[in-house]
Amino acid sequence: MCGIVGFTKKKYRSACCLEVLLNGLENLEYRGYDSAGIAVSDMEHQELKLCRAVGRISNLRRVVEEEKPEGSCGIGHTRWATHGKPSVENCHPHLAEKKTVAVVHNGIIENYQALKLQLQKEGVHFASQTDTEVVAQLLEKQYCGDMKKTLERVLPQLEGSFALAILDRNQPDTIYCARRRSPLLLAKGEDGAYLASDISALLDYTRDVWYIDEDSIAVLTPEEIMFWKDGEQQFPQSVHINWDSSAARKNGFDHFMLKEIFDQPTALRDTLNHYVDVEKGIIRRETMPFTMEQAKALKRLTIAACGTAYHAAVMGQSLLEQVAGVPAMAAVASEYRYSTMPPMEGEVFMAVSQSGETADTLAALTHKKAQGLRCLALSNVIGSTIAREADHVMYTLAGPEIAVASTKAYLTQVLLFEILALDLANLRGVLSDEELKVRIAELAQLPEQVEAILASKKTVEDFVQTQKNCHDIFFIGRLMDYASSLEAALKLKEISYLHSEAYAAGELKHGTIALVDESCLVVVTATQSVVLEKTLANMEEVRARGAELLLLGHFPVDHPHDCTVWNIPACSDQLAPILTTVYAQLFAYYMAKMHGCDIDKPRNLAKSVTVE
Ligand code: M6R
Repeated sequence: MCGIVGFTKKKYRSACCLEVLLNGLENLEYRGYDSAGIAVSDMEHQELKLCRAVGRISNLRRVVEEEKPEGSCGIGHTRWATHGKPSVENCHPHLAEKKTVAVVHNGIIENYQALKLQLQKEGVHFASQTDTEVVAQLLEKQYCGDMKKTLERVLPQLEGSFALAILDRNQPDTIYCARRRSPLLLAKGEDGAYLASDISALLDYTRDVWYIDEDSIAVLTPEEIMFWKDGEQQFPQSVHINWDSSAARKNGFDHFMLKEIFDQPTALRDTLNHYVDVEKGIIRRETMPFTMEQAKALKRLTIAACGTAYHAAVMGQSLLEQVAGVPAMAAVASEYRYSTMPPMEGEVFMAVSQSGETADTLAALTHKKAQGLRCLALSNVIGSTIAREADHVMYTLAGPEIAVASTKAYLTQVLLFEILALDLANLRGVLSDEELKVRIAELAQLPEQVEAILASKKTVEDFVQTQKNCHDIFFIGRLMDYASSLEAALKLKEISYLHSEAYAAGELKHGTIALVDESCLVVVTATQSVVLEKTLANMEEVRARGAELLLLGHFPVDHPHDCTVWNIPACSDQLAPILTTVYAQLFAYYMAKMHGCDIDKPRNLAKSVTVE
């Protein structure tokens, strides 16, 4: 989705404003976009200069090289079209009619049509079809000689969500910002002050950032950043982001997705060591969201999330029920945000989100918070909106995830559910300290087991070469294998554009088996011992319809199943779906590569979906 960057440079520092903006936009490319632009305040000529282009940032770079705008203070934007097609006119930044104000915006101004109509009646001419342009026009029209005061007057007129960065022609070294339900962070560096919608744009310059409160305004000059809310100046604390900028580079891999698949052993190790003292075989109490009393009082955990994070929630639901005996319910956040179910006594809510910015997940959390429920979050991004809104956050330590297709975030989310389930089981008295030690020892083996699967990537690559003509793929499994099948199917469809579906293996014959014939590949995941024979029987049903079979699980070398088998290292049933997922990720990756797809930036998708 859209990305924002901004920079205002200190005098006599060597940094180049244009380069900071363009580099920042390049670091936001992974979010998905269709056009990009920058605006700089040209002090000498007292004007705001725009450069905009459709397509990649390389196109924008060409425009910048041709037009050579000058300035040490500017804002930039990558646009993912919502209102109006991708075109130069619709591209941000938007200038107001008299060119005194330039605006970049993430989010949606829901009442823009009414505002636009009113402005048009007052004689304002619009140059684009976007909702954003009304903000620029309103600011110019209602300007009172002080941009902060003007913003305080304009913001209450806007409905919807926004992160705004604004240049005022009269103050060529200042950037004004405001936000409501869209992320925006600010930072000071040696060369000046920065802003961005996402830390990835700033990792080359700083790690200490400030988040702006909901409905607040921030004013950036090269020397300082000031925060305002309801007319009062605020003094928020900065947050240190412990990410390495090299973690946001490909480091020799062809794609971020492959690099992130290979990051997984480290991501699992880092996450595990943060929450668990592996040597002592104990969970670090201070990192956990429940005291013994709270754990015993817990009657239900409702978990809302979207996409891959939802699949982690489905896995979490099984783990919490099986390991800790806690009734749990995974819900799709875009539906659950409209749930009319009253809260239950003893219920706790949890939002799961890699980015911590997904609009539907945030809305579900806000809804449950308003009902008075205790709200937890599981997120990968420190200080993200969901993390800040929750009463307690469990962070995955996966590092920056750049590829649109989530891999390492998912695996660490599932690991956190494993740890949470073990902790709750221990606190509720269903798992002894000794049993906990054994389970932690199993968890500690996961990183090496993932490494073992990664070492067999050639097996996956070779198999994929035999699937050139395959266009329909079904993933089937039971219990936790069904949950991992959901994720396997999503991974494949989002990056390879092949038709893939996940089914609870026993459900197939209630309709969908009608689609199965010799042109299909059916991937059977069979790791759950309690239903193993039943899953294998379902496999025979699809074999009988001529489908090609790929079987994931632990099977002896001389297994009787006449099909390709990919074995995972020996582990408990509860950990097996983590390991089969690694095969599924590699399978999706090599299928997409064989079909020549844009793996890191799949069509129509954005990394972080910040609109409903
Ligand atoms: O940042 P979030 O975890 O909230 O994102 C949720 C989904 O948008 C995300 O998982 C999406 O499904 C990915 N493309 C999956 O690979």
